[in-house]
Amino acid sequence: MPVPLLDLSIQHEALQPQLDEKVLEIMHSGKFILGQYVEEFEQKLADYHNAKHAIGVSSGTDALLLSLMAMGIGHGDEVITTPFTFFATAGCIARTGATPVFIDIDPKTYNLEHQNIERAITSRTKAIMPVHLFGLPANMGPIMDIAKKHNLRVIEDAAQSIGAMYTDKMVGTIGDCGCLSFYPSKNLSCMGDAGAIITNDDELAAKFRQYRNHGMGGEYKYINIGGNFRLDAIQAGILTVKLDHLSDWTDKRIQHAHRYNRHLEQIAVSEPHEYEYRKHVFNQYTIRIHGGGRDALLNHLGANGIGCRVYYPFPLHTEPCFDYLKYQAGSLPISEEAAIEVLSLPVYPEMTRQQQDEVIACIKDFFSSE
Ligand SMILES: Cc1ncc(COP(=O)(O)O)c(C=O)c1O
Repeated sequence: MPVPLLDLSIQHEALQPQLDEKVLEIMHSGKFILGQYVEEFEQKLADYHNAKHAIGVSSGTDALLLSLMAMGIGHGDEVITTPFTFFATAGCIARTGATPVFIDIDPKTYNLEHQNIERAITSRTKAIMPVHLFGLPANMGPIMDIAKKHNLRVIEDAAQSIGAMYTDKMVGTIGDCGCLSFYPSKNLSCMGDAGAIITNDDELAAKFRQYRNHGMGGEYKYINIGGNFRLDAIQAGILTVKLDHLSDWTDKRIQHAHRYNRHLEQIAVSEPHEYEYRKHVFNQYTIRIHGGGRDALLNHLGANGIGCRVYYPFPLHTEPCFDYLKYQAGSLPISEEAAIEVLSLPVYPEMTRQQQDEVIACIKDFFSSE
């Protein structure tokens, strides 16, 4: 039986009556951009995070770009981040004219290693952008201490980690702001592109709202140069319906992950690390195959109809578009090693036990025939 990496059709079928009703209501309302449906979603999302503000935007990428722009980060500035992430994290820094400063990651969590931050700080550093990769919070305690000490902004890239917690705080509410993505592969997904920014800072929230609508502060009064980063009502409506189910879906992801852990612990792979004070929401269940063999396992699973994928095969400091930053291959060795050893397996909430057994059996079969 084939096991896809992700199958959204099951959750959409289960929610079809509510989704149909909401989408039709919005269609007939004629209110498609911002407005009451976006506000309803924003309120619900802010409540979910126990945060003061949630600002709906056009994508996770735009949430990051808008945050940097509204904080006045641009030419001549530096932002410290991880190279082991999706392109948008660093792409947005570079798009503002600022320089992404890549530091190496923690080999266990794949998140930015806080001990590398201070030596990367210069007089130009304006912000740190940690990524809560795969659904596991970065080590926000020390990151916030360093940010406070050096008076730096912290923009959390929480695109993969809605619902994850660091101690008693939801990710996205710990730094100055947190950026979410609702791209279809995310734990809370829409049917197109959408994102949001979470913040407890009233002043920043007002700026974010202004910047997402071209920087308009009053009728045709452009206070700043923003852009069209607006969330549309249909995506907001879909997300409003789905948000009620997020906690249940997250619990299921965690159950699948723990079951994988139990079955894979005797095999020569490392399972994802977890910590009591950091709730992992498993946007990805990512194993590590040390010392070669990852691509052979990837091919074996693929040949047996199991969806799996490498997130991410190339750390960003090695991407051609960042050649101008002059990082050498080997300069961030932990990220480079992770890129050739990680593999993400299906962990979507609706995956059946039988499907998961299939994945486990296929991995065991690979290692027994090695
Ligand atoms: C870590 C990370 N940052 C940013 C993004 C960008 O989000 P979006 O695809 O909604 O623009 C994504 C998702 O694709 C992501 O995984």
